[in-house]
Amino acid sequence: MSQDSASYDLLVIGAGPAGYVAAIRAAQLGMKTACVEKEVTLGGTCLNVGCIPSKALLESSEHYARALHGLEAHGVMVSEVKLDLERMMSRKATIVKQLCSGIEFLFKKNKVTWLRGSARLRSAGEVEIRNGEERQLVRASKLLIATGSVPQTLAALPIDQETIVDSTGALSFETVPPRLVVVGAGVIGLELGSVWARLGSKVTVLEAMPKILGNVDSEIARHAQRILKKQGLDIRTQAKVESVELRDGVALLAYQDAKSLRQELEAEKVLVAIGRRPYVDGLGVKELGITLDERARIVVDSNYQTSLPNVFAVGDVIAGPMLAHKAEAEGVACVERMAGIAASVNLGAIPYVAYTSPEVAGVGESEDELQARGQPFRKSTAAFVANGRAKAIAATDGVLKLLADPESDRILGCHIVGAHAGDLIAEVVVAMEFGGTVEDLGRTCHAHPSLSEVIKEAAHALHGHGLS
Ligand code: NAI
Repeated sequence: MSQDSASYDLLVIGAGPAGYVAAIRAAQLGMKTACVEKEVTLGGTCLNVGCIPSKALLESSEHYARALHGLEAHGVMVSEVKLDLERMMSRKATIVKQLCSGIEFLFKKNKVTWLRGSARLRSAGEVEIRNGEERQLVRASKLLIATGSVPQTLAALPIDQETIVDSTGALSFETVPPRLVVVGAGVIGLELGSVWARLGSKVTVLEAMPKILGNVDSEIARHAQRILKKQGLDIRTQAKVESVELRDGVALLAYQDAKSLRQELEAEKVLVAIGRRPYVDGLGVKELGITLDERARIVVDSNYQTSLPNVFAVGDVIAGPMLAHKAEAEGVACVERMAGIAASVNLGAIPYVAYTSPEVAGVGESEDELQARGQPFRKSTAAFVANGRAKAIAATDGVLKLLADPESDRILGCHIVGAHAGDLIAEVVVAMEFGGTVEDLGRTCHAHPSLSEVIKEAAHALHGHGLS
């Protein structure tokens, strides 16, 4: 085994949004930093097979769907709309490639060493890196685990990436499947289900729970479900998948419906999107006695230090929502704390966005969560249909909900289904970070006509002086 003559101040394991941002920030703070990555490109799941390629396909497929059905009302008549799937996929690949090389450039610029291979912890300060037959031993004063997560699997639905695929497979179908069954009505299922439905697949979504979108506020999730159904997604809740059989490349899926009756479905493709699990396979954390919680996540303290001194962890491998922006914020906070900067991440103000059409976004607690913990709250809603800009852009189907503390007027949560919800939510995130109130939102001048006026309207409504 060769030994890297260099010894580092910090060795980051994983070059996803948590790892690459942490490595760059650490180098900027003067640490001699290296980052280990086993894949051939930097960027992790988010850039290579997650957030970025899915958003590229969501955008392209929406253009296609609009050209087919959405332009007549504007007086724009289009004929002979054709789909060039190969070109759509190659646009996606170009975007991914550009962003991945962007990180490589930033590594060079900030003098972060990229070590290629799979890392295995030998001790708190020593990591073995395997790249094919090559093995290398690297020493570092501090280690930061940022190995992310991988799709959960179901024994009844073995992934073959041909007929039964995970999110990675569903980003690269070569043709539009006539029928697609999506298992799991979470963010991935609804985003990728939307992509293929817009491109012409008959999409059926099977969700085990009574509602879609996991922990998203129930009222907002119900609105989203109604809108997505109108777009042709056949969403079936309380559906428990039992088995799948492959016959001549077609999947025959059996599930139990809400009335416990056995149902069958056929599809050319099945996407399994039932959540993700922390990825520490082969990393040696268990062997070193690093404490994991009941969901196999690495337990960390307020400095992101694991139970082993000088070994830290951030992102999807630790507790909290599995979101790229949360991971990135933790990566920065962790290395800044190493450098003596009092950085922290407020898990109470992490926005979520599902990039369906319209988008679903929110921040803070849902009404369900407030009710469950017996927290008194005031609530208001504002509909997009009353907003001038929403009318002008033909995006009136949507609603925004504000939740506030009745005593202090502090914002407890905001949940939106509506056009550009993912951008609108940023205003409420900032307000919450500053400990803002609903009155602050209402008295802030919002441009007219803009969708952001829906926030102002909900703020006024909460105080009983909305315009409607
Ligand atoms: P998810 O946790 O969002 O949703 C999984 C869904 O599958 C849940 O509704 C669950 O009830 C359902 N489910 C579980 N087992 C099932 C079964 N046997 N049969 C039917 N339904 C079943 O997970 P998802 O969509 O796979 O996403 C994984 C992670 O990636 C999430 O943490 C998500 O936040 C993140 N992500 C975020 C995106 C964004 O921010 N826009 C985009 C894509 C993923």
